[in-house]
Amino acid sequence: MILVLDFGGQYNQLIARRVRENNVYCEVHTLTDGKISADKNVKSGLGTAINFDAIRDLKPKGIILTGGPQSVYDKNSSLPPAELFSLNIPILGICYGAQATVHVLGGEVKKAEVKEYGKTSVGISEQGLGSRLFKGVEKNSVVWMSHGDRIFTLPENFTITARSENCPIAAAENAEKKIYAVQFHPEVLHTVEGKKIFSNFVDICGCKRDWKMDTFVADTVAALKNKISDGKVLCALSGGVDSSVAAVLLSKAVGKNLTCVFVDHGLLRKNESAEVEAAFKNYDLNFIRIDAAERFLQRLQGVTEPERKRKIIGEEFIRVFEEVAKEIGAVDFLVQGTIYPDVIESGLGKSAVIKSHHNVGGLPDFVDFKEIIEPLRLLFKDEVRAAGRELGLPENIVSRQPFPGPGLGIRIIGEVTAEKIKIVQDADAIYREEIFKAGLAPKLSQYFAALTNMRSVGVMGDGRTYDYAVVLRAVLTSDFMTAEAAQIDWNILNVVANRIVNEVKGVNRVLYDCTSKPPATIELE
Ligand code: XMP
Repeated sequence: MILVLDFGGQYNQLIARRVRENNVYCEVHTLTDGKISADKNVKSGLGTAINFDAIRDLKPKGIILTGGPQSVYDKNSSLPPAELFSLNIPILGICYGAQATVHVLGGEVKKAEVKEYGKTSVGISEQGLGSRLFKGVEKNSVVWMSHGDRIFTLPENFTITARSENCPIAAAENAEKKIYAVQFHPEVLHTVEGKKIFSNFVDICGCKRDWKMDTFVADTVAALKNKISDGKVLCALSGGVDSSVAAVLLSKAVGKNLTCVFVDHGLLRKNESAEVEAAFKNYDLNFIRIDAAERFLQRLQGVTEPERKRKIIGEEFIRVFEEVAKEIGAVDFLVQGTIYPDVIESGLGKSAVIKSHHNVGGLPDFVDFKEIIEPLRLLFKDEVRAAGRELGLPENIVSRQPFPGPGLGIRIIGEVTAEKIKIVQDADAIYREEIFKAGLAPKLSQYFAALTNMRSVGVMGDGRTYDYAVVLRAVLTSDFMTAEAAQIDWNILNVVANRIVNEVKGVNRVLYDCTSKPPATIELE
């Protein structure tokens, strides 16, 4: 295991990803006030604060100190305790982590004359050529810099291993003690040799590279079996990747003691409901599908305000689920599809009960249960997908793109009607089919068709039409907080537009949404 100590940098999840890509397990924690804490209660827990004693007890094979917005010389900055560097565990400091390493060990960090932000060329120094961290790394390569301070002098027994034009100490190390400091960010893909650097660090740590999905699945199933024994488990299935994989893991562990409730609110994509049901036929569990489309439509009648629509869909979902849960009666465990980025972002400790986010899966006060289980809380999204494949879930579920809890309800501007749902489902199915055929699906973060509330005049055959305009959206993003519109080939858009106006009744115009987020959002409502 490699421990990542989080000092608040933007790319910290990426650091954990890079380590895991090397099949090495890794956890991200923050450090309690940067000093050795006497508080014995602060123990290891994913995403939680951790103190020096807990770090020592964890016995990580390596420690990575991340970047962050602080300056080492600020009074309140969080600094690793000097004792950390005497544990005889390899340490890699990145950006702020590098400066903190140098500062704590007696070197000097000051404001840089020139702030560096963006791509820079670094060259490995003569001494750096023998560095294990840079084994196989090109002598000159492009890295990503983002810093206002820099290292001016090094602690004793450190050597400079790389330089850039504005940063004479772009990397340094104490090879004997296996302490490494890099001013640049090896975790971002702009740093061309970044992956090699992580791979080298993993080797320096002597990690076995045995964190693999087959082992994870087998271990988790065994652990769940042990924990749940013959307890009863309830899972709300949305058809999304996380809840599906969580459900299948549990079904392997407890079979029919698991009940999955799949509420079909009628706002799913074309054929989605049937696909979910078909996928779960192959597993040993109680699968309850509730066809609640009519109920949702009725509640949405005449409602046009986006937030109101979201609220209604969320409330109705809970109500339907509640009715089913009442019939099932008390259960021992309720399953949540929480994944590792949620854990890191929210800093949840083990004691936290239910994450509150805008998913319809963000359930419920009313279900009578004793404990939440979150079988995926250690996994990143692509690891969840890999686990799903390992468990035999079909590709159409495993590689499913994100889909909002309120479903097509927020992709239909204005009032939701059965006619509009059909239009958007059909248009979206055509769009997805063509994107898939063109091989673009894996390259896009999210893409879908939505229905504007606008009708306009067109001509078809010899007749005048007055029909709806469909809008196509495709975005590229890594975190869904910001996004840019993807530049889809005009010929592909043309095919999609032609097919939609010809095949989908009620549409005579197709628009492409080229706004980024911000100022737009990804969904239309
Ligand atoms: P926006 O529209 O806010 O979307 O830019 C960002 C990402 O979040 C998804 N999204 C939701 N997911 N419940 C969800 O589970 C919701 O209510 C919801 N609203 C938006 C959206 O699809 C995109 O991936």
